[in-house]
Amino acid sequence: MVSIEDIRVILTAPQNQLPLVIVKVQTSEPGLYGLGCATFTQRHLAVAAAVQDHLRPLVLGRDVDRIEDLWHLMMVNGYWRNGPVLNNAVSGIDQALWDIKGKRAGLPVYELLGGKCREGAAVYRHADGTDHEQVIDQVHAFVEQGLGHVRVQHGGYDGVVPVKNVVPQASPDGAYFDPRASTRAKLAVLTAVRERFPHLELLHDVHERLTPAQAVEFAKECEPLKLFFLEDILAVEDLDWLANIRQVCTTPMAIGELFNHPREWTPLITGRLIDFMRMHISQMGGLTPARKVAILGELHGVRTAWHGPADTSPVGHAVNLHLDLASWNFGIQEWCGFGEPAREVFPGCPELREGYLYPNNKPGFGIDLDESAAERYPAPCSVIQWTQTRLRDGTIARP
Ligand code: CO
Repeated sequence: MVSIEDIRVILTAPQNQLPLVIVKVQTSEPGLYGLGCATFTQRHLAVAAAVQDHLRPLVLGRDVDRIEDLWHLMMVNGYWRNGPVLNNAVSGIDQALWDIKGKRAGLPVYELLGGKCREGAAVYRHADGTDHEQVIDQVHAFVEQGLGHVRVQHGGYDGVVPVKNVVPQASPDGAYFDPRASTRAKLAVLTAVRERFPHLELLHDVHERLTPAQAVEFAKECEPLKLFFLEDILAVEDLDWLANIRQVCTTPMAIGELFNHPREWTPLITGRLIDFMRMHISQMGGLTPARKVAILGELHGVRTAWHGPADTSPVGHAVNLHLDLASWNFGIQEWCGFGEPAREVFPGCPELREGYLYPNNKPGFGIDLDESAAERYPAPCSVIQWTQTRLRDGTIARP
């Protein structure tokens, strides 16, 4: 039996100061190890402690082949389950065990999942800017690179329109958000891009910043733009309103990056309330639950669009890609683009060519970690700003 000999957590931030959490599972076989993504950028130290202090002692010495059994053991052993910290910690070990299984079999993980349904995964990237010309230039640059899908935002990552804080004592350092001004600006930029690129697939992320009534109205207003999908139209807390949106417009819906618990995604898939599942694979507990939900989606006509921003590590992106290639109902893959420092820390990072992402076909996920390079990019621990957005009267808003 090959057993789990040791588990270590490596924290590194080679891109945009975002702390990435990588779990390295070492086995009793010399030189055989696996890597998994456990990245929860905003609470990375809590995840590291959950892996090192709680899961490591639980799984040391156990059989590396029993991924399904170990996943369930790790999930229930703490009794309270499915929180973001625990799910990410479980994911780190789960994905590393899949990597090890691929290496032992001498096969890429997509072969273990049933084999390729396609050669590469179509991706979308993010175009943003402070004015329409900037956004259009960015879209144009992506089209020149061969992309067929582009997400269009305006005035910063989340579409926040800069407005003057009318209550200075509320939070002078916060970002301020005016929902009306924001939806007007979103529609204007999307319309401008649609006019310029009539045949491009366009996407937009609302980032759950609207009230339910505003969300219904905005989804209807987007209908003539024929979006590929509209993302996070509602906050998780308001998802019961999704049925109302479905009744009044045909705009395809993509939801899921904040989900923790199977009860959050299962009703949306079986009820055909979404068109694309957007879960963050480490946040839902790793590849083991993700591959099951991908199949559930296939049975219900729902496609995959796994969360793929820069706060998923290159290891996590490789996991997304292997599942993309092996899932018949793959829809699209979000791709942030990794710079030279991240590629140096993670040799074997997926490659983007002409709008499609490709793995390198080595056994496992085909991605490695250069630990001495990782040390040169220490993970910062700072208080983040973008989750402190407020309405104009100072009320804290959902991010
Ligand atoms: Co999003």
